Amino acid sequence: MRTPQVFLLPDKPVESLDAYIAGGGGEALKQALTMPREQIIAEVKKSGLRGRGGAGFPTGLKWAGVAHDPCPTKYLVCNGSEGEPGSFKDHMLMRKNPYQLLEGIAIGAYAIQAKKAFLGIKASSQKEVRAVRRAIAEMLEGNVLGPTPIELVLGPEDYLFGEEKALLEVIEGRDPMPREADNPPYVDGLFVTDPTEPNPTVVNNVETLSNIPHIVQRGAGWFRTIGTPDSPGTMIFTVCEDVRRPGVYELPMGTSLRTLVYDYAGGPPAGQQFKGFLSGVANRVVLPSRLDTPLNFNSLHAIGSGLGSGGFIAYDNTACMVRVAHMFATFLWLESCNQCSSCKVGTNQSMTYLEKLMEGRRDGTDIDFVIEGAMMAPHGNRCYLPVEHSLSCPSIVGSFSGEFIAHYGRGCQDCRSLVLPKIHDFDEDKHTFTYSPGRITP
Ligand SMILES: Cc1cc2nc3c(=O)[nH]c(=O)nc-3n(C[C@H](O)[C@H](O)[C@H](O)COP(=O)(O)O)c2cc1C
Ligand code: SF4
Repeated sequence: MRTPQVFLLPDKPVESLDAYIAGGGGEALKQALTMPREQIIAEVKKSGLRGRGGAGFPTGLKWAGVAHDPCPTKYLVCNGSEGEPGSFKDHMLMRKNPYQLLEGIAIGAYAIQAKKAFLGIKASSQKEVRAVRRAIAEMLEGNVLGPTPIELVLGPEDYLFGEEKALLEVIEGRDPMPREADNPPYVDGLFVTDPTEPNPTVVNNVETLSNIPHIVQRGAGWFRTIGTPDSPGTMIFTVCEDVRRPGVYELPMGTSLRTLVYDYAGGPPAGQQFKGFLSGVANRVVLPSRLDTPLNFNSLHAIGSGLGSGGFIAYDNTACMVRVAHMFATFLWLESCNQCSSCKVGTNQSMTYLEKLMEGRRDGTDIDFVIEGAMMAPHGNRCYLPVEHSLSCPSIVGSFSGEFIAHYGRGCQDCRSLVLPKIHDFDEDKHTFTYSPGRITP
């Protein structure tokens, strides 16, 4: 099932530059190169495009901030790491249409007058790396990649590779440890040697930049005819775990969660009911009573959760929410870099006491320690990772308190085992995801 308003994710992969150009690709960059840079940025601002990497930050505003900075050296970075559990849309975009992404990067780099652009992808994302490498070679040969050099940077498996300050570290040749900087990359960017020359750097997600050629070519007015006033355009949603048709679905913003998980993802397995949905590991749980919420940034925020990167992990009534909370806490603790006490002590404390609950070793006071650990962020944390834990963990405990109480002194006796959906591959015909072999299978 496809709605007529979608335009980012093709049914079949675009196999060659010739095929891309035959379908109208490349025209947006040609057009952009004849436009004043300010006009491109103004069009992106007018379109209302908001970042698809998690926070929904207005893209035009980020570009304008960097473009107007007096520092003469600027960079653009495309974040293709996609390590969020339950999300696979950037992988699909890179596999199915790397040309569209590269055209978006080229337009963005030109608009902000970047000295150079970088695209960071995990080295293990082999299909995506192959597709992007081939597209770069073809586009360079066809002279349709614009004037800014674009470098592909292959990065590590770490979740933190996607955190923007850690991503800059990787591009500079170091480990993905978020740098101690009060400011985001659009203020303090790449390769800074002199604090008076902060090299402001735009970091944008793959899906965000894939929208750019369409906005430039068809205009902000067209873009705003799709989606909602606060979240124009489409979003590519991933749905995994307890649904009949796991998959990656592009839908206009504002489509309800019910439509996504029932009409597209097929509803819960036969005989079961939904229990909760998590948009990655970074937001509060969404309960089935909220199924009619429109999927746009403000509506998800209004119900106390967030859209994240559009990946929804669905759990039905057979899933143990103590295990879910423990699995998420374990992931966030293992993936933290141990530089700050909010992760080293806080997330660790939640994880330890959740484990005791699962084992039935302790009692109700443990819940207080779980929450206390989660609430150590945001205090003294260099990055947002433990804030994710402070949102997801207490919300799971609070929404399913009866289940947590039932585990006191008893533990998980016949609870089904769970695997964290760190997605590595997707079979579109069979509608099945393959998960990365993980360390987290409580
Ligand atoms: C722990 C952590 C992991 C992240 N992983 C990703 C990621 O894989 N891809 C991504 O685009 N953004 C990720 N982000 C968000 C980025 O830091 C950044 O906000 C985003 O790339 C900006 O792009 P946008 O404005 O186009 O959304 C992550 C953030 C955190 C805190
Ligand atoms: S908050 Fe956690 S993940 Fe972020 S830099 Fe500190 S220790 Fe590392």
